Amino acid sequence: MSIEVLPLDADKRGECPQEFSFGAVFSDHMFRQVFDKGVGWHDAQIVPYQALQLDPSAAVLHYSQEIFEGLKAYRREDGKINLFRPEANCRRFNRSAARMVMPEVEESLHLEALKKLVKLDAAWVPSKDGSSLYIRPAMIATSSKLGLGASSQYTHFIITGPSGAYFAGGFNPIAVYITDEYRRAVAGGVGEAKTGGNYAASLMASEKVAELGYSQVLWLDSIHGQYIEEVGAMNICFVYEGKKIVTPALSGSILPGITRDSILKLAPTLGYEVSEERMDVNQVVADIESGKITEVFGCGTAAVISPVGKLCFMQKDYVVNNNESGPVSKHLYDQLTGIQYGKIEDPFGWIT
Ligand code: COI
Repeated sequence: MSIEVLPLDADKRGECPQEFSFGAVFSDHMFRQVFDKGVGWHDAQIVPYQALQLDPSAAVLHYSQEIFEGLKAYRREDGKINLFRPEANCRRFNRSAARMVMPEVEESLHLEALKKLVKLDAAWVPSKDGSSLYIRPAMIATSSKLGLGASSQYTHFIITGPSGAYFAGGFNPIAVYITDEYRRAVAGGVGEAKTGGNYAASLMASEKVAELGYSQVLWLDSIHGQYIEEVGAMNICFVYEGKKIVTPALSGSILPGITRDSILKLAPTLGYEVSEERMDVNQVVADIESGKITEVFGCGTAAVISPVGKLCFMQKDYVVNNNESGPVSKHLYDQLTGIQYGKIEDPFGWIT
């Protein structure tokens, strides 16, 4: 199947603003294709960015049969544009689709759509330091029916928009609240799928901790309420004695982050030891107190690498590295973004 392109007239093209935060402004075009059971995917098109038409009874609006992704395009110093690990991203999209009983997309078509879309809206890929074009693929169930069951119609779409730092403070440490009250995902549930419900389920705790001055919630496992899983918008890593990076092992209810995976592959080439372990929150806070844990950082596509300066657990604050960003987080940030922006050679084959 080929992708039909219906571009905007040149005089209707928008302009990438000078100032933007994360995910608030969208580029001129979008990709979309539709699926009908018995027919498969069809009508792949790149069209001007526009509202989707949905019946009020569309399954996604009632039962949340939905998945999404996040990846970025980076403006290189020579003006060209890099995509970071789009294949890995598409594979995760298809794993999420399988978990949510949705049809997989053809990887080659999805990648062609990404490239065509970014090329067409190349003027929207910003060159400001630390900025990028955020790409949001998604799929929604569109069958018009209220009986509970997998939809027989879907829309797969991709939108993009210029993005700056996810956290307003940029690379400055954030404060995280470890909740012992709420859970994000359950064992056997959909925690490892990138589906909207996981994020909707996180909002109440996020709102509550924001009132207390914490910008993210750290989630514990749902069985024991004891093992560290992930943070609201990212995975989490702990640096032991400045040389070993430990992150919770994927448990089935943790999102298998592509930035997380990139760090696990990149860090050993920079001289760090890495380990994926079941991490007991009581041990972690004891290790922060004793100074064994020298840095904590979150990692994700939107968040990149975000130092954590303070974690609250059971009404007590545990301060890491004097609430300052540390050298390991900075080293990894510089190396990872160096590869993403094409300033450092990519030995992993991650760049398109
Ligand atoms: C991403 O990092 O791309 C995500 O999808 C996380 C989202 C909460 C912004």
